[in-house]
Amino acid sequence: MHILKPLRASRPVAPLVGTLTVPGDKSISHRALMFGALAVGETRISGLLEGEDVLRTAAAMRALGAEVIQDGPGAWRVSGRGVGGLTEPADVLDMGNSGTAARLLAGILASHPFFSVMTGDASLRRRPMRRVTDPLAASGARFLSREGGRLPLAIVGAQDAMPLEYRVPVPSAQVKSALLLCGLNAAGVTRIEEPEATRDHSENMLRHFGATVSVEQVGASRIISLTGQPHLAAADVVVPGDPSSAAFAAVAAVLVPGSKVRIVGLGLNPLRCGLFTTLREMGADLVVENARTEGGEPVGDLVVRHGPLRAVDVPWDRAPSMIDEYPVLAVAAAFATGTTRMLGLKELRVKESDRLSATAALLAANGVRVEIIGDDLIVHGNGRAPAGGAMVETHMDHRLAMSALVLGLASVAPVAVDDASFIDTSFPGFVDLMNGLVGNGGTPAISAA
Ligand code: S3P
Repeated sequence: MHILKPLRASRPVAPLVGTLTVPGDKSISHRALMFGALAVGETRISGLLEGEDVLRTAAAMRALGAEVIQDGPGAWRVSGRGVGGLTEPADVLDMGNSGTAARLLAGILASHPFFSVMTGDASLRRRPMRRVTDPLAASGARFLSREGGRLPLAIVGAQDAMPLEYRVPVPSAQVKSALLLCGLNAAGVTRIEEPEATRDHSENMLRHFGATVSVEQVGASRIISLTGQPHLAAADVVVPGDPSSAAFAAVAAVLVPGSKVRIVGLGLNPLRCGLFTTLREMGADLVVENARTEGGEPVGDLVVRHGPLRAVDVPWDRAPSMIDEYPVLAVAAAFATGTTRMLGLKELRVKESDRLSATAALLAANGVRVEIIGDDLIVHGNGRAPAGGAMVETHMDHRLAMSALVLGLASVAPVAVDDASFIDTSFPGFVDLMNGLVGNGGTPAISAA
């Protein structure tokens, strides 16, 4: 039985000050475990995110025959089975709350010739899977699911998978990655066209493990080609801090007067940094120091200071680079002077919750004037702190819970959330980390409601 965890955030008596690291990148952590399981040899991972979502992927890789061992905090070892070498799981694979785990795993299972069943929690069982199963079926895999392509999903993988050629109709790194993972065990070249660039961690990591991947820019589209059945060789992975988790600390520092935080060892892949670009356009003081490359990914330290914000228009084509950051950007926009328009947010409707409606509801309940027009989110700010004071419904969505708590750190009255337990899917330790920054003379800014 699920036990609700209500929390409340209120204005700290002191600014947020300090140096912090955020947990490892969720996207890279899932992929490190999956590619490690498909490689020959032992992959050592450091900085792995030990959130619920990634632990589900670790369990699934074990159930499929890979050896996955935790040596210490963030330090993991995966002994892989080689491309096409995973074996039939004895039981249902439960992917919990994680869309990334479920969709990427569907790609792996599509080109392994055995039977498996995948399920998830109530949130994941509501999310669309056809976006991966329709194109994956062309490999020869067979899928049976509930109405609307929803989990539970039964899969019979292809005996000799065909390589796929597919134009991804929605900007989705999960869809692209599922097809690449399927293509690993298909004889021939898998070719994927993405009309809008999405996070390229799969491409980077495939190369890191020795696969041949080429990326061609044709107009606005990217064409990604993967040569199937490569020898994937185990390779160590250093997981950088997750920019999508850093987003909450960064926005809190911008909003709480007097704050200055340094977030060290942060992943700064340009296809993930749309929030930081937008905050800068809004006038926020964000500086990157120590920029470097680690394990094929750009990394740096981000220094964030408090300051006033002005409204901006956020163009639709920026959405893939900040798709998980709109709820917390909307919170920032509520403090800005003027009307912020966030354009083209259709994909937000199929996240852990309908994040477009839920973000609007979060703000409206706390005294912010907000509208949804088509797929755009419009937030009217007047340069002053919103009233706050509401109990926000989080709909099993970690990012809504953290966004509401960030709002409560700077709104006039405290903000509560009905259930903060899902924060552990991506950001274990969030509450302690934020309270630790405050130095609030013993009174935590975030506490049980
Ligand atoms: C992810 C891709 C995005 C993002 C999710 C992680 C990934 O989803 O929202 O949190 O790791 O590939 P979509 O591909 O559905 O946009």
